[in-house]
Amino acid sequence: MQQPIAILDSGVGGLTVAKEVMRQLPLEKLVYYGDTARTPYGPRSSEEVVRFTREIVEYLIQFQPKMIVIACNTATAAGLEDIRARVDIPVVGVINPGARAAIGFTVTGCVGIIGTEGTINSGAYEQALRKLDPQVKVISEACPRFVPLVEKGNFRSYETYETIRSSIGHLREHPIDTLILGCTHYPFLAETISEIMGQDVKLISSADETAREISVILQGRGKLAAGDRLPVHQFFCSGDQQLFQSITRQWLGEQIELTPIIWQIPTIV
Ligand code: DGL
Repeated sequence: MQQPIAILDSGVGGLTVAKEVMRQLPLEKLVYYGDTARTPYGPRSSEEVVRFTREIVEYLIQFQPKMIVIACNTATAAGLEDIRARVDIPVVGVINPGARAAIGFTVTGCVGIIGTEGTINSGAYEQALRKLDPQVKVISEACPRFVPLVEKGNFRSYETYETIRSSIGHLREHPIDTLILGCTHYPFLAETISEIMGQDVKLISSADETAREISVILQGRGKLAAGDRLPVHQFFCSGDQQLFQSITRQWLGEQIELTPIIWQIPTIV
C-alpha cells in the first residue's frame, strides 16, 4: 500500500498547498481534509482550533500517512507543536516556509502580512521573520472577511474587490515590497490582491516553499513515492460536498484531469 501525505485545512484553503504538492511531486498520493462545516477557524479561540486540528489528525491517521501537512496558518499557529508531540511522523506547517520565502524576496526590508485574526494575533509570522532577519520591518493586517468569500467560491466580483480594497488598500502607504498571503485561502484572491497592492509588490504564498520542504523531508527519509502509476487521491470535507467539489475542480484544474479522486464526507465528531 502506498502511504499518503495527509493535508488538512479549515476548508478549501489547503488546496493551494495540495496543488503545488501535486505539481512538484505528482507520484505522491494525497489524503485531504477540509473542515468546511466549521470554517472559518480565524475567529475561534486557539484552544478550539487545537481541538479541531487534533480531531482531524485522529481521523487522518487511519490512512497511515507518512507525513501530515497542516495547510492552514491559523491551525499551524495554534497547534503545530501540539500535533508534533502526538504523532511519530513528520508534521509540516505553513508559517516557516512562507517567512523564509518572504525574507528571500524583500529588498526594502519591509514585509506585509495578511491573515486571519488567529494568525495575526498569534504573532507567529513576526516571530518567524525576526528569527531570519532581526531588522525586518513587519506590517500586519487581519482580514476576517476574506475566508468566507473564498468558501463561497466568490473569487472575483465587485463585492470581493471592495472587501479586499477596504481591508488592505491602506497597506500601500508603507514601503512594502513583499506581501505574505498568511492564509492558505488567499491565493484564490491573488489577482485582486495584486491589482490593489500594485504589480511591484511580490505576493508570497507558502505553497511552493511548503511543497519543497515536504519533498526535502521525504527524500531525507527515503520515503518519496516511486513508480510510474498515478496515485488515487482522497478528498474529504465536513460540509457541503457539491460546493467543495466544484471549488476543488476549479482550483486543481489540469492537476486532477488524469488523477482519479475519491470524494467522501466523513463524520468525525
Ligand atoms: N486557510 C486557513 C489559514 O490559512 C483559513 C483559516 C480560517 O478558516 O479562518 O489560516
